[in-house]
Amino acid sequence: MSQSSVHFHRDIPKIPVGVLGATGTVGQRFIVLLCSHPWFVLKALGASSRSAGKPYKDAVRWKQTTPIPSGVSAMIVHDCVPEPFKDCNVVFSGLDSDVAGDIEASFRAAELAVFSNAKNYRRDPNVPLIVPLVNTIHLTILPQQQKLHIHPLTREPQPLLRGFIVTNANCSTTGVVIPLAALERAFGPLESLVITTMQAISGAGYPGVPSLDILDNVVPYISGEEEKIEWETLKILGGIIDEETEAIDGKKEKFKKFDMHTTSPLRVSAHCNRVPVIDGHTECVSVRFAKRPPPSPQQVREALAAYTSDAQTLGCPSAPTRTIIVHEEADRPQPRLDRYHQEGAGVNVGRVRQCPVFDIKFVVLSNNVSIGAATSSIINAEVAVLKGIIQF
Ligand SMILES: NC(=O)c1ccc[n+]([C@@H]2O[C@H](COP(=O)([O-])OP(=O)(O)OC[C@H]3O[C@@H](n4cnc5c(N)ncnc54)[C@H](OP(=O)(O)O)[C@@H]3O)[C@@H](O)[C@H]2O)c1
Repeated sequence: MSQSSVHFHRDIPKIPVGVLGATGTVGQRFIVLLCSHPWFVLKALGASSRSAGKPYKDAVRWKQTTPIPSGVSAMIVHDCVPEPFKDCNVVFSGLDSDVAGDIEASFRAAELAVFSNAKNYRRDPNVPLIVPLVNTIHLTILPQQQKLHIHPLTREPQPLLRGFIVTNANCSTTGVVIPLAALERAFGPLESLVITTMQAISGAGYPGVPSLDILDNVVPYISGEEEKIEWETLKILGGIIDEETEAIDGKKEKFKKFDMHTTSPLRVSAHCNRVPVIDGHTECVSVRFAKRPPPSPQQVREALAAYTSDAQTLGCPSAPTRTIIVHEEADRPQPRLDRYHQEGAGVNVGRVRQCPVFDIKFVVLSNNVSIGAATSSIINAEVAVLKGIIQF
């Protein structure tokens, strides 16, 4: 795999892709996005044995605001095994985490490029956890992942040529790390963060939280969510470093390792709440900078508005033209008004102001099913195509 060759848009042929978990909340969003994608062509769909063998329109409870794309309605849903996906170069996974681990490993071992939304491989030291508007540089770990690959069934070494797994982050982590990356780029390391989320119901998939639990209510607990934000933020914002270790034969070997923000320690505390909003996670953030004196609210606003992602610079077709929209109104962003800007591919920030305990506080709104899930995976794959990582 050559990461040095960068493709230009005009060189890119149509790339056959599949979707795993195609009937779910994230899977449906993948289908909508892929059906109008300039490079990716949807060739195969997978879901559970409950759906396998059925035409897609009969297997899915379609919850999108546009109809099922005509070419997809009659496609037969398959079991999530590599054989029916053999003509695909790439699979996008919206699988439930209970099953994503084994299934995604089997697709990687079958030499497919897997872009996953599930939590299973996010902590793997050889798997990049990529928010495409922040840390596409972490894709440089992939040759190491392929070289060290162990076949999931035989447990024998099986170096890979084309197969790999790239994960994207938890939907709340994704929304918040984008403005945080912009602040680090402009003002240097962050020292501490307190993040309080108000998370949409669709973040729990379908049918999700029962209506009698969420209407007229706030649920101040989402299993595993606070730990994910606190941990994933460190992996995403931390760099990637080269380490030398001694091999069995005494030779020195170079390895890449995620820095986990150890060179500039960052403390993160998250509070997660489920609220009666359908789509769009709102997060209130207080930040303390290492830099003294800290930047002013106006400097922060300017840095956020000026932030440009790699995905944008590379020219990814699904990247938003403005990564961060900074709102000046006193009462914005709001989920109902702001979640569909740029088709949910960027994030919205507002209420940037001084914090009397930390330095600066602000509100972020991100579309959990778009940039929080399917859109991120698709931009990750676009970056991989443009950097010559996906073979076609
Ligand atoms: N919703 C969000 O905003 C969001 C955001 C970021 C990340 N995520 C993550 O994305 C993943 C999908 O979330 P979701 O909200 O889309 O969930 P969901 O609506 O519950 O969909 C789950 C999908 O997994 C399939 N599935 C379940 N059991 C299976 C099995 N044994 N074998 C094969 N397929 C199976 C389902 O197929 P059937 O229809 O056949 O059962 C369905 O297509 C999860 O890991 C979640 O944590 C979700």
